[in-house]
Amino acid sequence: MGKVIVLDHPLIKHKLTFIRDKNTGSKEFRELVKEVSMLMAYEVTRDLPLEEIEIETPITTTKGQIISGKKLGLIPILRAGLGMVDGMLSILPAAKVGHIGLYRDPETLKPVEYYCKLPYDIEERELILLDPMLATGGSATAAIDFLKEKGCNSIKLVCLIAAPEGIDAVQKAHPDVDIYVASIDEKLNEDAYIVPGLGDAGDRLFGTK
Ligand code: PRP
Ligand code: URA
Repeated sequence: MGKVIVLDHPLIKHKLTFIRDKNTGSKEFRELVKEVSMLMAYEVTRDLPLEEIEIETPITTTKGQIISGKKLGLIPILRAGLGMVDGMLSILPAAKVGHIGLYRDPETLKPVEYYCKLPYDIEERELILLDPMLATGGSATAAIDFLKEKGCNSIKLVCLIAAPEGIDAVQKAHPDVDIYVASIDEKLNEDAYIVPGLGDAGDRLFGTK
């Protein structure tokens, strides 16, 4: 079973409170999502392998450690996942970015794919799938299905807020995928919105409602 890692650092909790607040406008919402994503990158990359290299300081020759192994790929699920890309890239500037466009059909609540553009060597990369909201888990599960069909076998899912239902769904469908979240909320409401949640992440990021 994949692990669920809750990043309950005080800075993340503080920022998430203002992200949730309905009086936070789009500009501040975007900035806060970026900052929380940057903080989450620190924990999401904790298990990256290191290799030793020799360098010269101004004083002497010494050994240091640098990141080695597989290259990284950031995969935001459009639209709302876009809000997490810049924060992650600020810590992981060499990562390539692929996009998967999914929207949740308001009637069926099932994800519908409308766009996909991935790095050419996607199957060789460690992928970090980004979406602020894990509600029913339909979108994340579909995105992971899709990445696996392309040959990807190293995927982490990073969300700001998850409902227990979404975590269960992803764990059942993809037990090899670890899930990183800033908060596990109480439940879904009758429209499959997360309670207490933050509302519609895409609309709040882009000011479309
Ligand atoms: C939101 C969110 C997730 C999805 C979560 O996207 O960003 O992708 O819903 O719900 P689920 O776990 O039940 O699938 P939405 O479909 O509203 O599209 P948007 O990002 O374009 O606003
Ligand atoms: N998508 C969102 O943007 N918010 C929710 O609470 C659920 C799905």
